[in-house]
Amino acid sequence: MNYEEASKVLKANGQEHLLQFWVRLDRNTQSSLLEQIAAIDFREVERCQAMLKGAPADAGSPKKGNPTAPRVSELHGAELRAAIAAGEAELAAGRVGVLLVAGGQGSRLGFDGPKGAYPIGPITGAPLFYFHARKVLALSRRYNTHIPLYVMTSQANNADTVAHFEKHGWYGLDKRDVIFFAQGMWPGMTADGKIILDAPGHVFMSPDGHGGMLSALKANGCFEDMRRRGVKTLFYFQVDNPLVNVAEPAFIGIHTLDKSEYSLKLCAKRSPREGLGMVVRRNGHFDMIEYTEMTAEMNNRRTADGDLYFKYGSPAIHVFDREFLEKEAAKDMPLHLAHKKIAAIDRAGRKVAPSEPNGYKFEKFIFDILPDAKRVTCVAFDRRDEFAPVKNADGKDSPASCRDALRAKWRRQLAEIHIAVPATMPLEIDPAAMYDGRDILNNGFLLRNA
Ligand code: UTP
Repeated sequence: MNYEEASKVLKANGQEHLLQFWVRLDRNTQSSLLEQIAAIDFREVERCQAMLKGAPADAGSPKKGNPTAPRVSELHGAELRAAIAAGEAELAAGRVGVLLVAGGQGSRLGFDGPKGAYPIGPITGAPLFYFHARKVLALSRRYNTHIPLYVMTSQANNADTVAHFEKHGWYGLDKRDVIFFAQGMWPGMTADGKIILDAPGHVFMSPDGHGGMLSALKANGCFEDMRRRGVKTLFYFQVDNPLVNVAEPAFIGIHTLDKSEYSLKLCAKRSPREGLGMVVRRNGHFDMIEYTEMTAEMNNRRTADGDLYFKYGSPAIHVFDREFLEKEAAKDMPLHLAHKKIAAIDRAGRKVAPSEPNGYKFEKFIFDILPDAKRVTCVAFDRRDEFAPVKNADGKDSPASCRDALRAKWRRQLAEIHIAVPATMPLEIDPAAMYDGRDILNNGFLLRNA
């Protein structure tokens, strides 16, 4: 795209101000600005502008109606054994892939680099990515198969993420089985729909949300890669939770036995007002209500035996049917607005950090495809075993609380196979050696390392 073409497109879309400092820019900045402008999808910009004018975020999805709590299974006994057997068969047949979303900005944690590179191992300081990738390795070895790991990055962290995996030898995985794909970036806008410049020759862009995964999988040829490999089922999780049982056989298995398109692990809320998304049913569809949309009455409603009626929240641990994702990738997803402080330039081209939110970012959320799923399975799990995200630098959901949860989980896993570890003893386990206690029994790894 050259200057004249950019100028024409911008004029047609009421965004001419993006070129207002053109004559002041050096050649490199001019060409990178043109590249940015060429990459903007003005059809999506129009959708964002419509939202700013008050169009409903959820156009087309069945949001209206009285929400009720869904059926949530707890797997025990024969049902659990059947689910494990079915999941193991899928894994061994190479029909399972793993989707890790790691394109976020991790602004609350304030870590310099991709969030997945954050050192979380209680003894070694091993990064979040290590714990995720080593679980994929453990299951690939256990089932003698290749489990592809698709890692979603953003344009802001893609190069650093790829370099991180390279530096760490892909954590033992075959590098052909680690596939990186960058999500889209969207320009930020002011309330009147004008795209924001954060430097005279640079448009402010931010990743398009974890829901951007679908268009990014499509645009990067990942669905073809999955089809070529025979992958039918995808385990999805977020980069900030090193406790998650990646591609857990029982979860894969129940999803397969139920012939579901979308399965979710859900955990009991800690308190009525805990900020987890709630899965509900309404108008014959499943749906996710964000905690901000829950009324006080809904939060506090009780069943006859005193339990919370809306008891289970979603920690974003999902299993998807690949064909379902492909169908959804062909559709527009709803947009969500976030009002943010965005450092932007003033009329003179000086960067100004605002004290109040001054602009909007737009995001897509993966769970917005839930109402389209014809078959959905909800499985309850004990959050102590699988949910301790690293969101904040201190306090709740911090590295410290996550490390405590990791140590406690490992102690429980070892206790199950009659190995008692005192609470005060430093402990860290490589998931490739022990995905769960069964690996120790099978591999005798403690004896070998004694
Ligand atoms: P969060 O909602 O916690 O956002 O992402 P974040 O960007 O990581 O952190 P903050 O809010 O700036 O502090 C949940 C998961 O979704 C991924 C994140 O990488 C994380 O795994 N995500 C989020 C994306 O992959 N892309 C996005 O655009 C947003």
